[in-house]
Amino acid sequence: MVNPASNASAVTAVRGHLVSLRDNPFVAGDAAALWHEPDGLLLMRDGVIEAVGPWRDLRHHVPDGVAVTHYPDAFIVPGFIDCHVHYVQTGMIGAAGFQLLDWLDKYTFPTERKFADKAYASKVASLFCDELLRNGTTTALVFAASYPASVDALFEQAERRRMRLIAGKVLMDRNAPPGLCDTAQSAYDDSAALIARWHGRGRLGYAITPRFAITSTPAQLEAAGALWRGHPDVWVHTHLSENRGEIAAVAELYPDRASYLDVYDHYGLVGRRSVFAHGVHMDETDFACCHEHGAAIAHCPTSNLFLGSGLFPLRQALDARRPVHVGLGTDIGAGTSFSLPATAGSAYKVGQLRGDALSAPQLLYLATRGAARALDLGDRIGTLQAGFEADFAVLDPRATPLLAFRTAQAQSLEECLGVMMTLADDRLVKATWVAGREAIPSR
Ligand code: GUN
Ligand code: ZN
Repeated sequence: MVNPASNASAVTAVRGHLVSLRDNPFVAGDAAALWHEPDGLLLMRDGVIEAVGPWRDLRHHVPDGVAVTHYPDAFIVPGFIDCHVHYVQTGMIGAAGFQLLDWLDKYTFPTERKFADKAYASKVASLFCDELLRNGTTTALVFAASYPASVDALFEQAERRRMRLIAGKVLMDRNAPPGLCDTAQSAYDDSAALIARWHGRGRLGYAITPRFAITSTPAQLEAAGALWRGHPDVWVHTHLSENRGEIAAVAELYPDRASYLDVYDHYGLVGRRSVFAHGVHMDETDFACCHEHGAAIAHCPTSNLFLGSGLFPLRQALDARRPVHVGLGTDIGAGTSFSLPATAGSAYKVGQLRGDALSAPQLLYLATRGAARALDLGDRIGTLQAGFEADFAVLDPRATPLLAFRTAQAQSLEECLGVMMTLADDRLVKATWVAGREAIPSR
């Protein structure tokens, strides 16, 4: 498999304690799904993992002249995958006092107006991409604003950093300030132009992004469905069943539809590459519909707590009789942390409030391999295996005095992972590697 004599220029190598999910722990169980190699080597070529295994077995395959970066006291995990985040809301994290619909009117719409200015959008996009990487996140599915240039700004920054990023221009043609609204036709035309410009360029992908059913007319959702039929390999990214008031408003605006999800289904927006953020108040029929179409839910626990939206029924979503794909989303700026490990820690607490104590391997799965599958990228990212893209985060269990003290008491890898997620913030991440190269310097 490995040819030591081949060109070493694009080859990199990293040694350390490798940890990833080889399978779904919700199905296979933790012991079968969690894989780790306490002294492992990742050998990478052209951004892809070429070989992975014990250092003692693979060390002789490192080509001459290739330096091995060694992280002796850290855990190397797959790069985190954020299944739902708004880069344009980076500047309004913690905007308090309201639930969803008032929060949108009071804070979100005025904030997103600022992204009509491309220079401002580029500044925030740069900070946003850096913040993802500082937190070990190497892939994200991102809402921009309704201005096409706000999408250009983000893709330009992601491309520079070689990140795998999916994003789209927000579609909204009603129930929002006029300066933010597009029309059914301009939404179609602008999105089509952005798909032509960005989708499939390097590691970038496009998502058709209606904000939610409340801010799109039937004509606009019709246009979104038509666009997807013309470009079936792009994603669809929107919000679903987050808040009771929102659900009531959707029922009034779409009285002929059986449910909120049925609105999207009616316009052909439910499919394998649909990602619905929240889904807190979905019912059995909704889950069955998502299962049937292969659609995914982004579970956004910090956001759902911050806005008081509710507790996502994860166990019901994953019901083995008709499992639905689920990944974690930070949902910045309703969410309160860029850190997927911290978001996993909040998912644990939401689970506890529903009588469901998630294990550390299950939580890590939702932030990595499960999230990759939710985004239909399960054959490319989310695990440390040969043939997968070489995106990973290096986690330092001694990043702070408290982490060092606490993780030193841990009796098992699982306990250590759980503690790191409980205490996580950006300091946990010692380094992030994107497509086989270090993206930020070690701290
Ligand atoms: N629903 C529609 N727009 C938004 C948004 O910006 N954030 C959240 N959390 N929910 C939404
Ligand atoms: Zn959102």
